[in-house]
Amino acid sequence: MVFKKIICIDLGTDTTQIYLKGVGIVVNEPSIVAFNNRTNRVVAVGGEAKKMLARTPAHVTALRPLSHGVIADFDMAREMLQRFLEREQIPWSWLTETVVSVPTNLTEVERKSVEDLLKEVGAHQVHLIEQPIAAAFGSRLEINEPTAYLIIDMGAGATDMAVISLNGIVVSKRLKVAGDYFNNEIIKAVRDELKLDIGQPTAEEIKMAVGSAVPMGERLEIVVRGRDLSSGLPREISIKDTQVRFWLVRPLKLIIEVLKDLVETAPAELVGDIYKNGIYFCGGGSLLRGLDQLVQKEIGVPVKVVEEPLTCVARGTGMVCENFEKHRQLLHNFSSLNVTR
Ligand SMILES: Nc1ncnc2c1ncn2[C@@H]1O[C@H](COP(=O)(O)OP(=O)(O)OP(=O)(O)O)[C@@H](O)[C@H]1O
Ligand SMILES: [Mg+2]
Repeated sequence: MVFKKIICIDLGTDTTQIYLKGVGIVVNEPSIVAFNNRTNRVVAVGGEAKKMLARTPAHVTALRPLSHGVIADFDMAREMLQRFLEREQIPWSWLTETVVSVPTNLTEVERKSVEDLLKEVGAHQVHLIEQPIAAAFGSRLEINEPTAYLIIDMGAGATDMAVISLNGIVVSKRLKVAGDYFNNEIIKAVRDELKLDIGQPTAEEIKMAVGSAVPMGERLEIVVRGRDLSSGLPREISIKDTQVRFWLVRPLKLIIEVLKDLVETAPAELVGDIYKNGIYFCGGGSLLRGLDQLVQKEIGVPVKVVEEPLTCVARGTGMVCENFEKHRQLLHNFSSLNVTR
C-alpha cells in the first residue's frame, strides 16, 4: 500500500493549529497576517504578525483572515497557511490528504471556500470534520455509543454547540458571540463608562486577568493604560472583576438563550442522556472563570471543561487521521472532495 501523508488543520479565528500524522501538533500560531500595502507583500504571519497587530506603521496592515470561524479574506488565508506549511517544511506531495475542521452550519459557499483554500495550497484530497465532533472525539467521549453528548466549543469568533450521538450531530447551533465579542464589550464599556480608549490586546488582558461569569470569591483588579478620550493623553486606570462581570452579562445571556433553544429542539430521549452525561465545554472561551458554573446553574446539568480545551479540536482531528480508515465515518456527513490539480 502506498503511504499516504495526512495533514490536519484547525483554522480558527484566533489560532491556527496543524497536526501532522505520526508527529502531533506542529503549528500552533495566531491566525494573523501582516502585509505591506506599498508592495502588496506579506511581511509576517502568526506570532510575529501578532506583535505588529496594534502597532503597525501606516503602510503595514495586520489582519485576521478568518472571521467568526469562516474565511473572510481568502488570499490572506492562503498566504498564511502556505507560510505555516513552508516554515515547518511539511512534506506536501500529490498524495497529501487533508482533514480540516470546520464550524457547524456552514453555507455551501463557506464550505467550498475551505475546500478551495486547501486545494490552492496543494492538497490532493480534502476531508471536512465538524469542530464539535472533533472536540468530542479529541476529549475521548464515547461518541460512537447510542447515548448523547452536548458539547460547546467557544472560540474567539463563534460559539458552536451540538448534540452528538452515534458519531453524528443530531442538532446544533452556532452564534457569533464568543471571545472576541467579550473583548469588544470590554472596549465599549471602558470607553463609555471610564472615558478611556483601549485596544484589543488590552481588552483581552483585562478579560483573562479579572474576567469571570459568576462571583469567584476572590477580588481581582488590574491596572491598564489607554488614551484619555477628552485630553487625548495617556492615562492609567484600575479595573475590578465586578465591573467586567457586569459588562459580560449581556453576551453571556445571549449564549445561554441559544443553548436553552438547542436543548429544547433536541429529542427527549437525548435530553435524558445529556442530563446523565453532562455538558462538555471546550475552546479558549471555556477558560473564562466561572462560565461552567453559570451554565450549570442556568441549564441544570453538570458542566465539565474538557482537558486542554485549546487544542482538543486539532487533537481530535489528528486522532481521526492516525486511524483514518477506522474513523472516517466521522467525516461521512460531508462530501469528501476529490481535488484535481
Ligand atoms: N483564560 C481565558 N479566559 C477567557 N478567555 C480566554 C482564556 N484563554 C483564551 N481565551 C479566549 O479564547 C479565545 C480563543 O479560543 P480558541 O483558540 O478556541 O479560538 P479559535 O478556535 O481560534 O476561534 P473559533 O473557533 O471561534 O474560530 C480568545 O477569544 C481568547 O480570548
Ligand atoms: Mg475553534
